[in-house]
Amino acid sequence: MEMLGRTRDDLPTPSPLVDLDIMAANINKMSRFARAASVGLRPHVKSHKCAEIARRQVENGAVGVCAATIREAEAMAEADIRGLLITSEMVGRDKVVRLIQLTRRQPETMSVVDHVQHARDLSEAAQANGVVLNVLIDIDPELHRSGIPAGAPAVALAESIQKMPRLNLRGLQCYSADSSHVPGHAARKKHSTEAMLPAIETFLELKRRGMPVDIMSGGSSGTYDIDTALEGLTELQAGSYVLMDVDYRRIGGMRGAEFDDFGQALTVLATVISRNHAGQATVDAGYKAFATDRPFGPVPKDLPGVTYRFMGDEHGLVEWRDDSDRIRLGDRIEFVVPHCDPNVNLYDRIFCLRAGTVEAVWPVARGYA
Ligand SMILES: Cc1ncc(COP(=O)(O)O)c(C=O)c1O
Repeated sequence: MEMLGRTRDDLPTPSPLVDLDIMAANINKMSRFARAASVGLRPHVKSHKCAEIARRQVENGAVGVCAATIREAEAMAEADIRGLLITSEMVGRDKVVRLIQLTRRQPETMSVVDHVQHARDLSEAAQANGVVLNVLIDIDPELHRSGIPAGAPAVALAESIQKMPRLNLRGLQCYSADSSHVPGHAARKKHSTEAMLPAIETFLELKRRGMPVDIMSGGSSGTYDIDTALEGLTELQAGSYVLMDVDYRRIGGMRGAEFDDFGQALTVLATVISRNHAGQATVDAGYKAFATDRPFGPVPKDLPGVTYRFMGDEHGLVEWRDDSDRIRLGDRIEFVVPHCDPNVNLYDRIFCLRAGTVEAVWPVARGYA
């Protein structure tokens, strides 16, 4: 059924909506910021998994995009988005074969390594297939999620990689997941600076040793104005800024308790399907409509004083304190999502609205396979 031209009132629910004007403002703001800071912007597409959004980021000056999975990277390549950096280790035959195919298509593609055995495996696969694989060393900001420790272990890995045929070491990546959501700008600055400096110092050490490395990549939406001030960071990997979510709202910004540097572009639209009790209404959006990885749920947009509570897979309860009839059966309610990345992954398509009307419908490269 044709969706273009529809309004909130006649779209299927629950559905994700993107406000195109707010998204464009977010893209422009981050691009301008990165340019002014003389840092390359390689936005992370894990937040949206959508080639059309990536296209707009690149058209606005991004040097390429980051992807978390081979599936995301392939979806970007199919849409001819260039300058891919896969920020997770591509280990195992399936991923390595696909990485090589991707590199044949886009030779500048990069991925990350954090272990000499992995580097050897990639080098052997590259030799067997006659390609050159570009790699960054993934530095662990002492989180133990992925990455090799900064300093001597990373330098030793870099020296080993340099001797391996058909591996091209471009530099380092360090992503401090813990830093991005530290509440309060000052505390976040301290946390992220402490996490990032050892990686940056290692990058500078590789340069001092004459290695031809040119990329020091890292950072997030929460630390975009912190990490880019660190001398030595060459690229910013921020992702969520383009869509935003409740999780980021809560971290606080330079100006106050809300992190409002970027606008809320993504919402999920739901319908009030039951309305029998004072101050309560049920919407058709529950655990399957919203990411559930955070200790808080979605927040109704533009409805101050109205709260949401999960009520099951397909149900959610909105509540308000006064006994007014402000929410009625059949009403449409937009919710700011708890966490944009896993939320986007729940849907096949995003409805893109401008001035309240659907202007485009964009596919989401969800899933893994
Ligand atoms: C490796 C990496 N880089 C960058 C990001 C972007 O972070 P954010 O979406 O918080 O901007 C993520 C997000 O999880 C990530 O995993």
